[in-house]
Amino acid sequence: MNNRQKSGIIKTSAASNIALVKYWGKKHYQIPENPSVSLSLSHSKSITETAWEIKEDPASGLELEFYFEQKENVAFKQRVLGYLETISSMYSIPQNIKLQIKSYNTFPHSSGIASSASFMASLALALKKLDELVNERSSSLEKFAQETSTWARMGSGSACRSIFGPISLWGKLDGYSESSNEYAVPVKNYHDIFSDYRDTILIIDSGPKKISSQKGHQLMEEHPFKDARYTQARVNCQKILDSLKTGDLKTFISIVESEALMLHGLMMTGSKPYILLRPNTLAVIDKIISFRERTELPVAFTIDAGPNIHLLYPNHCHAQIKDYIQKELGQFLENRTFIEDQVSTLPTTIEFK
Ligand code: DP6
Repeated sequence: MNNRQKSGIIKTSAASNIALVKYWGKKHYQIPENPSVSLSLSHSKSITETAWEIKEDPASGLELEFYFEQKENVAFKQRVLGYLETISSMYSIPQNIKLQIKSYNTFPHSSGIASSASFMASLALALKKLDELVNERSSSLEKFAQETSTWARMGSGSACRSIFGPISLWGKLDGYSESSNEYAVPVKNYHDIFSDYRDTILIIDSGPKKISSQKGHQLMEEHPFKDARYTQARVNCQKILDSLKTGDLKTFISIVESEALMLHGLMMTGSKPYILLRPNTLAVIDKIISFRERTELPVAFTIDAGPNIHLLYPNHCHAQIKDYIQKELGQFLENRTFIEDQVSTLPTTIEFK
């Protein structure tokens, strides 16, 4: 008599992350061309509820319903089907399964917060748990996290870093024997100041991106500066990891900002150049640099593949920086909008029954 669980609900959440050293350029199967380092956030999350049921007829195929923010979403459903196909060699979830997945984000669309990272991480967590439940397998927490990070990577490269917090390293790096191109690893050796570091996201323009990250990665394959970039990213990973260890904020700021500008510099100098920065992105960067010089507060800016700005700074500067944003930067922001977040040591949750 087989008493295996035949249905259940798995509720997962995963937070987004912001790269300090950027992943930009990849090889087949989501293998990064260079290592990257990121901070995982607390509040900017994807919450995903997966109801599953093994159907009686073993020959019946996979049935999937996908709801994003309470509405059935065919585009997302196709993406999830493609993803299931991509990772199918890594799991043994039976084909005769019915899945109803409902997901939503705790942050607005196109806000400069990477929703594909948090969503793919939350989905990978759910599928990994499902694989364990239907096959009555269990693994150590460490192995579970590592495999989930591998699965998340297959959905979206940067998603693999959202499994760990507050700091993740993804990609093979000399001197870090635990590092891997297949999955991210938590960076354990960091100064206390980073344990509650802040990220305030300034919304410059919430419109859709002209060029996707997918396309951006692809354009790196032919980029005239690619070799120099991949070498520089390795050096920057070493430097940022050292600064994270010692709390050397001067080095931290200079690497973080140079990485952000380099990412956009690469976009502007490839075979099909494009610009994602907006005039107000540059105006705000200018203001932030002057503010830092004037106040000596250790605030750094970074930018992902879009026009919005992440301000990274120690928790103790929060009140002063918030006041500055409200008084001096509001006019440059779309509807004066900014989103406050903070790093998290536990960026994921999982519940199941
Ligand atoms: C600029 O992880 O979105 O945010 O692997 O194609 O899904 P795919 O790309 P994605 O790329 C993120 C690029 C970045 C930098 C970073 O997060 O490291």
